[in-house]
Amino acid sequence: MSQDYAPEPADGTKAITYASYLKVEELLTLQTPQSDPEEHDELLFIVIHQVYELWFKVMLHGLDRVRTMLSGGHLHESLAGLKRARTILKTLVAQIDILETMTPLEFASFRERLQSASGFQSAQFREIEFLLGYKRPQMVELHPSSEPSHDRLRRRLNEPSIVDAFYDFLTTRGIDVPTSCRDKDPTSATVPCPEIHDQLVACYRDKPDIALLMESMVDFDEGLQEWRYRHVKMVERTLGHKIGTGGSSGAEFLASTLFKPVFPDLWEIRSAF
Ligand code: HEM
Repeated sequence: MSQDYAPEPADGTKAITYASYLKVEELLTLQTPQSDPEEHDELLFIVIHQVYELWFKVMLHGLDRVRTMLSGGHLHESLAGLKRARTILKTLVAQIDILETMTPLEFASFRERLQSASGFQSAQFREIEFLLGYKRPQMVELHPSSEPSHDRLRRRLNEPSIVDAFYDFLTTRGIDVPTSCRDKDPTSATVPCPEIHDQLVACYRDKPDIALLMESMVDFDEGLQEWRYRHVKMVERTLGHKIGTGGSSGAEFLASTLFKPVFPDLWEIRSAF
């Protein structure tokens, strides 16, 4: 390769390359199959979870910004952020197809090596839930206080959620958000607030900007529920009714998490039209 293509900076530092910028060599050392001799499908299993965690990181980064933009009353930035988060969810759902190419026999070949490791322990997934308003303090305690994830979860537990930021947004648009909707322990999960329903319904008639925002939030919410559904079906076809490595009843436990929206009011008003 010619000097002109990748000139060294004059200050003596090394030129940034594709590999150095992305730390590719380091990245490729981060997959450590536990099976010995190595089972063919374990690499796929590890990589897919790592990729998920990276997307969770990007999603948290984006949803943090959505929260800020909503609180500040910035519609377009909020819509753009929600659209990106929704698009990431679609990618996460699509990745399940790859994992479903693994048969129950292939999964069973290395499953016992996972010991008690489970997606149930994904701290970033819980962070996403907290940020969206689905807060459960007991989830923090599942992460040892010696780990950075514990502090991140504790911080997010106490921070305002996207639902709080949505109320801020409505206030910037002259909507009088009832105090009963706002008045809750910040560490508790969002509960439906029927007192605001009439105003939300009226927005669909009179305030198209807010209607667009609510539709975008519903898109995201539906995307998350879709991910949960596809994950359960994948678990069912890979594990049947065996218990999970995390100690739950497996598919049965996961089925109990389905169809629970993070923005309940936006679903409850649907029959009011
Ligand atoms: C063959 C593939 C997979 C199987 C068999 C599987 C199985 C399970 C099971 C049985 C649970 C319930 C908790 C337990 O007892 O372990 C669970 C939870 C979970 N899994 Fe998976 N999983 C798979 C792939 C994935 C992937 C690729 C992700 C992406 C990060 C993931 C993320 C999660 C999350 C976030 C939970 C917690 C869900 C909740 O508490 O609502 N799983 N998984």
